[in-house]
Amino acid sequence: MSTTTESRFSMGQGIRLIDDAGNEYLDGVSGTFNLSLGYNHPYVVEKIQEQVGNLTHMSSSFTEPYVEEVLSLLLEEAPNGIDAGWMRDITGSTANECATKIAQKYTGERDIVSLYYSHHGQTQFATGISGNAFRRKGFPNSTVPNSLHVPVPYCYRCPFQSDPDHCAMQCIEALSDQLEFGGSGSTACMIIEPILGNGGNIIPPMEYFKQLRKLCDEHNMILIADEVQTGIGRTGYMYASTLFDIKPDIITLAKGLGGIGVPVAAVLMQSRLNILEKHEHSFTSGSNMISLTAARSTMEVVSAPGFLESVRSKGELLGNLLSPLAELYPDTIGEARGVGLMWGLEIVDADGAPDSRKANAIIDMAFRDENLILRGSRYGFGNVVKVRPSLTVTEDEIVEIVGRLERILQKMG
Ligand SMILES: Cc1ncc(COP(=O)(O)O)c(C=O)c1O
Repeated sequence: MSTTTESRFSMGQGIRLIDDAGNEYLDGVSGTFNLSLGYNHPYVVEKIQEQVGNLTHMSSSFTEPYVEEVLSLLLEEAPNGIDAGWMRDITGSTANECATKIAQKYTGERDIVSLYYSHHGQTQFATGISGNAFRRKGFPNSTVPNSLHVPVPYCYRCPFQSDPDHCAMQCIEALSDQLEFGGSGSTACMIIEPILGNGGNIIPPMEYFKQLRKLCDEHNMILIADEVQTGIGRTGYMYASTLFDIKPDIITLAKGLGGIGVPVAAVLMQSRLNILEKHEHSFTSGSNMISLTAARSTMEVVSAPGFLESVRSKGELLGNLLSPLAELYPDTIGEARGVGLMWGLEIVDADGAPDSRKANAIIDMAFRDENLILRGSRYGFGNVVKVRPSLTVTEDEIVEIVGRLERILQKMG
């Protein structure tokens, strides 16, 4: 997308970005999917401003009471007996490192399994456990010795050429084989995004999660749900793990937890896994007062009565508007898939093959001709256009986003 060189944005209002010349752009993807409450949610802004005036930072030796307040909000709806947490990170990448450290320390085992197309961050370690070789190329230390990658349950383009109605779950079989024959014989954990965000909004079938949990139990592996994109209401539920009944042992969070873009992360776990010493995983800015205030006020908004219900109904509206586009423009959209406010359009050529150039053209035209900000998937085939507005988007704005997108599709013919 050629946005950065041409435009200088100086203000954000709701889901709109405004440039120096006063032009308004509709942000259909909430920044990098992290502005769960838009650019300037008044309650979060007020709380942060107040906090900046009082105290922006103190050593994490003293922040424990504030961390506990955030955790109690996060744990209220946490699934599968998850009842403890750790907030010494500010990014999703290191939150995932924290989760894998816990798994290795607790089990005494080594291997970390993840899916092809997955994205778990961009430190060398997080790049190593993510499922894309191109991000590791040129960085020898990004090849993590105990990292195993297995085929993704991408039903639209099943790697085993199965169709969803006659699926023998070969992806679970491949995972099981990898553990049995391909690994070190010592597996600590599997880390999985409930919806593969950067991979192309891929939603594994419920049966995959069910069998994955069983396999983890059989192999004494810790199951980590990377909810950096899906957490904090994105799917219409506080955690996508609840929606898909994933039963993870650990959940990692970042992005949307900061509400209006404030960096903050959290690792939630069952208390048996709350075993790290403070010196084993801690960062200078982890649990700083601005991050904690943003997380707390964001959680107050998202867990207020009716908020998640409204995300679900707005998600339904978005799905009802996007799904017909796949029927109207079959030479461009192979599938519209999503849940809540996390949708992706699989862009294809006239033969149904993935078409990343067309996907990028749609994103560029949306920005240039319609003042609409969209993003594409970087992984997999790179052909999925993502639509993920802030959770505070209005119904009118959803209609406006899809209307502008449809004008682009019409132009493309
Ligand atoms: C699913 C997922 N996990 C982890 C990360 C890494 O988070 P961060 O960029 O805050 O390090 C990302 C970022 O895009 C992500 O999408």
